[in-house]
Amino acid sequence: MKRVTIRVPATTANLGPGFDAFGCALSLYTDVTFEETEWGLEITGCPEEFSGPDNLAYVSYCAVLASMNEDIKGLKIHIDAHIPICRGLGSSAALLVAGAMGANVLRGNKLSIQGLLNITNAMEGHPDNLAPAFLGGLTASMVDNGLPVCVNFPLHPDWEFLALIPDFTLSTEKARAALPTEYSRADAVYNIAHGALVLKALEKGDEKLLRNAMQDRIHQNYRRKLIPDYDQIEALVRTCGAAFCLSGAGPTLLCITQDEKLDEKLAKKLDSVTEHNWQMLPLHVEFQGARVIASE
Ligand code: HSE
Repeated sequence: MKRVTIRVPATTANLGPGFDAFGCALSLYTDVTFEETEWGLEITGCPEEFSGPDNLAYVSYCAVLASMNEDIKGLKIHIDAHIPICRGLGSSAALLVAGAMGANVLRGNKLSIQGLLNITNAMEGHPDNLAPAFLGGLTASMVDNGLPVCVNFPLHPDWEFLALIPDFTLSTEKARAALPTEYSRADAVYNIAHGALVLKALEKGDEKLLRNAMQDRIHQNYRRKLIPDYDQIEALVRTCGAAFCLSGAGPTLLCITQDEKLDEKLAKKLDSVTEHNWQMLPLHVEFQGARVIASE
């Protein structure tokens, strides 16, 4: 095989209290094509500043080959990204996953998904976007002795996810720098309890329980000040009866509901309470993880 295209789903991390642990794959995708050549690196389909050797898909591709003790001569990468950059929807994880899987497929699938998770987690630093990007669906992860352990959790089929994506970006680095390094025992207990009940509510399709459980004391309160309109939108979503959280490190805000008309209800009110332009994007859960969609 000479060329392969990998499709990777968008992912929302944390889901409220599951900081660096919970994640879910969503129906928005980045496709990346890899073709090994005789020499050089050519990356197309992305802004100029991302087309050098520090491109995450390339870095990940090289890391997988290095782990196999294999060399690379040249590589062409084409990126067709529908996951918006720096918005808290797993765009960086998608490139890491695509690069890792692309290298593995073109070199004969020598590594398992766990092997690819190990390599990409060492680069990303936390597995909460990587796990659903590889496995699909709802996932929870822990890191033990430096290695990620990731499992799928059941998810009720009726959930709708409504992403509210603003016209500004927020880097994960900046959003992580806003967090304290230590927390009280009360906050730790709060998040453990709420996290467990979020997973049960998502499994059972219990919207009332999800609304109550999807609260957090580890990251959201520290990050809300970095996101204009956060408080107004949270209040609005809660009056509409949906569960609400920050998607990953933000700035995308996420509503989880079984109300198929939530977007219509919010659309009527959103413009009057916000300064920025927020795109409403209805999404479903993607139960399939990263996969090959074309090869030759
Ligand atoms: N768990 C991560 C965070 C997700 O909230 O910082 C973003 O990479």
